[in-house]
Amino acid sequence: MSSQGFVIWFTGLSGSGKSTLAEALAPVLRERGRNVEILDGDIVRTNLSKGLGFSKEDRDTNIRRIGFVASLLARNGVGVITAAISPYQEIRDENRAMTEGDGAVFVEVHAAATVEQCEARDVKGLYAKARAGEIKGFTGIDDPYEEPPSPEVRCETGLDSEERSLDQILDYLESRGLIGKAQS
Ligand code: ADX
Repeated sequence: MSSQGFVIWFTGLSGSGKSTLAEALAPVLRERGRNVEILDGDIVRTNLSKGLGFSKEDRDTNIRRIGFVASLLARNGVGVITAAISPYQEIRDENRAMTEGDGAVFVEVHAAATVEQCEARDVKGLYAKARAGEIKGFTGIDDPYEEPPSPEVRCETGLDSEERSLDQILDYLESRGLIGKAQS
C-alpha cells in the first residue's frame, strides 16, 4: 500500500463541482487505505482564511495558505484534497513547486464546467447576484479565471456524470501508484 503523500488540487469556477467531487473522492481513498484530509475553500474561509475577501491579493493569500497546509500534510503521507477556485496559474504553480519540493505528488484536476454551465445551475444563487451587480468581482463574471493549460486530469463537470469524473481521477491515481486497484 502506497504511503506516498499527494495533493489533489481541484481548480474551477464556483459551482463547477470541486467540493462535490472532493467529498465523493475522500471516502473512496479511505477505503483504499489512505489517510485523507479535505481543504475546501468555503470551509477554509471560515477559519484559516477568515477575514480575507476576494481581491487578487486576498485570493492569493488564501490559496498560498491552503497550499502550505496541504504540503505539510502531504509530506507526512496524507492524501490531501483541496477544493478552492484558485483562479491564478502562477499561485497554483507555486503550490505545486512547494509540494513537489517536499517530496509529495501534486495532481492538478480541472473541474472544467463553463461559466454558462455553472450559471445555469447557480446552486448558491451567486451568479444571479453577480449579474445584478450585488457582488462585484465574481470569478468568471467580472473577475479572472485562468484555466490550467496542462492539468493532470480534466473533468468535464458540466457534461459528465459525477461517477465518470471520479473514475477519471481514480484511474489517474492508480496509474501513478498512489492508490491500489479496487477490490472486485
Ligand atoms: S478563491 O478565489 O480564493 O480560490 P474560494 O474557493 O476560497 O475562492 O471561495 C470561493 C467561494 O466563495 C465561491 O464558491 C462562492 O461561494 C464564494 N464567493 C463569494 N464572493 C465571491 C467572488 N467575488 N468570487 C468568487 N467566489 C465568491
